[in-house]
Amino acid sequence: MMRLKVQSVSTTYGKKTILHDVSLPNIPAGTIVGLLGPNASGKSTLMKCLAGEKKCDGHISFDKLNVAETDQKHWFNKVATMPQTPPSPTALTPTELMWSTARALALPISDRELARNIERIFKDLGLVQFALSPLYTLSGGKRQLVGLALALIREPELLLLDEPTSALDLHWKISVLALVHGKVKSEGKIALAALHDLDLAARYCDILVLLKQGRIVASGPPFDVLTSQNIERVYHVETEISDTGKGYPRIDVIAPLKENHENA
Ligand SMILES: Nc1ncnc2c1ncn2[C@@H]1O[C@H](COP(=O)(O)OP(=O)(O)OP(=O)(O)O)[C@@H](O)[C@H]1O
Ligand SMILES: [Mg+2]
Repeated sequence: MMRLKVQSVSTTYGKKTILHDVSLPNIPAGTIVGLLGPNASGKSTLMKCLAGEKKCDGHISFDKLNVAETDQKHWFNKVATMPQTPPSPTALTPTELMWSTARALALPISDRELARNIERIFKDLGLVQFALSPLYTLSGGKRQLVGLALALIREPELLLLDEPTSALDLHWKISVLALVHGKVKSEGKIALAALHDLDLAARYCDILVLLKQGRIVASGPPFDVLTSQNIERVYHVETEISDTGKGYPRIDVIAPLKENHENA
């Protein structure tokens, strides 16, 4: 069975260690993992290590391939990232970007099949009416959806989503996570999403991983990770956690705590 394994991953920028001995629970196919933690805690850096874009110590393997021993082209056939920054507002259209991305990656599908896939993804993401509009004319949220479309066209087995819903309205926040959830469950893929919205993470993720200053504070099912104590320790806010009765917790943020957020 396809699995993602992340064991003792450490990495640096210059002399500064950013990730310290990060290990995740074994992640089987059909799992959505939510990567949580404050700004600068190392979420994007971990995603870059998983994407094969940044070198690290430790072990990362997916579907029996070790990232350090696999050539990038082969890894990129299996793993796609939606970066935190959406595509730039250039004169290119979403359709042009999709075609050039797919062809640059030499996706092994016919033009007809690719056109059909692009049409389906645009429909799923509400982008049909913007398909031929230059990106500079699109709103920030729509450009973020184009960023997701560019990851989905690669039909990856491991989908890395770096804050995929940060610019989206309520409808699209829910729609995007429901879409990813459907794909992961019905097609046996794995998704790992960095998220700041704890309620969305609790609702859609099977496993949550809580990072603080490049170290894992907790990992496991949402009810185990999203405790008032863990959230206070990591985010320095007071919360009340309740049971929605739907299989996931609800997080009410009461107030920020007075400690020095940066140094605590
Ligand atoms: N290219 C870089 N060069 C030097 N330091 C970097 C670089 N990219 C990130 N860092 C540092 O690595 C640390 C982790 O950054 P990272 O982007 O992984 O955080 P994050 O958890 O994704 O934060 P956010 O929620 O703000 O996106 C930060 O201290 C950041 O300043
Ligand atoms: Mg980030």
